[in-house]
Amino acid sequence: MKKPESSKFSGKALLKGKKCVVTGGALGIGRQICYTFAENEAEVLILDFNVAAAEETKSLIQEAFKDSKVHVVQGDVSDRIKLKESFAEIASIFNGSIDVFVNNVGIIQPCRIEDIVSEKESNTFDKIIDVNFKGTYYCAAYAYPLLVKGIDPVLIMIGSCASVGSEGQGGYAGTKAAQRGLLGTLAKEWKATEDYQAVRVGLIEPDYLEKTAITAEKQYWIDLANARRTTVDKISDEAVARTKVPLKREARLNEISEVVMLYTLSTYLNGEAISVSGGKTMRL
Ligand SMILES: NC(=O)c1ccc[n+]([C@@H]2O[C@H](COP(=O)([O-])OP(=O)(O)OC[C@H]3O[C@@H](n4cnc5c(N)ncnc54)[C@H](O)[C@@H]3O)[C@@H](O)[C@H]2O)c1
Repeated sequence: MKKPESSKFSGKALLKGKKCVVTGGALGIGRQICYTFAENEAEVLILDFNVAAAEETKSLIQEAFKDSKVHVVQGDVSDRIKLKESFAEIASIFNGSIDVFVNNVGIIQPCRIEDIVSEKESNTFDKIIDVNFKGTYYCAAYAYPLLVKGIDPVLIMIGSCASVGSEGQGGYAGTKAAQRGLLGTLAKEWKATEDYQAVRVGLIEPDYLEKTAITAEKQYWIDLANARRTTVDKISDEAVARTKVPLKREARLNEISEVVMLYTLSTYLNGEAISVSGGKTMRL
C-alpha cells in the first residue's frame, strides 16, 4: 500500500490542538485521515485492533511531522464490553473530551442475499453486521459523553455509496444504508439543550478508490464480491469508474480525507450524507 499523501489543507494548522479519534486508523482510508489531521496539527488517536499497523501509521506520521502527537489504543469496535476499556483509555489520554470522532471501521465481505441460508454465509453476514453496524453504533454511544465536552464537537461516519445497493454485497450495502438511519437519529438526539451543546454528525460515502489505496486482504473480498455479480457490473472497478464516473477515474485517498476535513471545519453542516463518487451517484 502506498504512503499517505498531503491534502489541499496541508501546512495550515487548521486543527491545531484538536483532539481527534479515528477508528480503523491503522490502514486504508483511516490511515490517510489520521495523516491529514496530523498535517493540520491535530492530536490524533488511532483506535484499531491491529496495533502493529497502527504503530506503523504513527511512525509514518511522526516521520513526516516531527512534533505531531499520535496515540494508539487497541480495541475491537464489535466488542461492546471490551470497548468500554478502550474508551476509558481514550478518556484518560484526552482528559475526558474529544473534539472530532471518525467512525471509520468497516469491513467488506460479499454475500448474495439468497446465500444467507447456508451456514458459512450466515457467519459472514453476522460478522459484517457486528463490525459495520454494531461497531459504528457502539462507538457512537461510547464517544458521546466525551464529544459533548469537546470544542465544536463532531462525529463523522465513513459510509459507502453501496448504501443505495451493490450487487454481490447485500450485507455490506445494508450496513452502509443503516448508517444513514443512525445519521438522522444522532443528529436529532445530539441536539443542543439547556445543559448540553450539540454534537454535529456527518456521513461521508466514498465510492471507487484507486487500487493502490486498498490492502491485499480488502482486494481479496472485493474480487470475491465481483465474482458473484451476474449482470453488466461484472467488470473491474477501474472499468466501471471509466464508464460510469463523470470524472472518468477513481478517487485518491486524500480526496476522501479532504471531505472529512471540510465537514470537520464546517460549523453548520449537520445530519448530512455526502457522496464522494466523482459524480457517479449525484443527487439533484
Ligand atoms: N476501500 C474502499 O474501496 C471503500 C469504498 C467505500 C467505502 N469504504 C469505507 O471506508 C471505511 C474504511 O475502509 P478501508 O478500505 O480503509 O478499510 P481497510 O480494510 O483498509 O482498513 C480498515 C481498518 O479497520 C481496522 N479494523 C477492522 N475491523 C476492526 C474492528 N473490529 N475493530 C477495530 N479495528 C478494526 C483494520 O485493522 C484496519 O486498520 C469502511 O467503513 C469502508 O466501508 C471503503
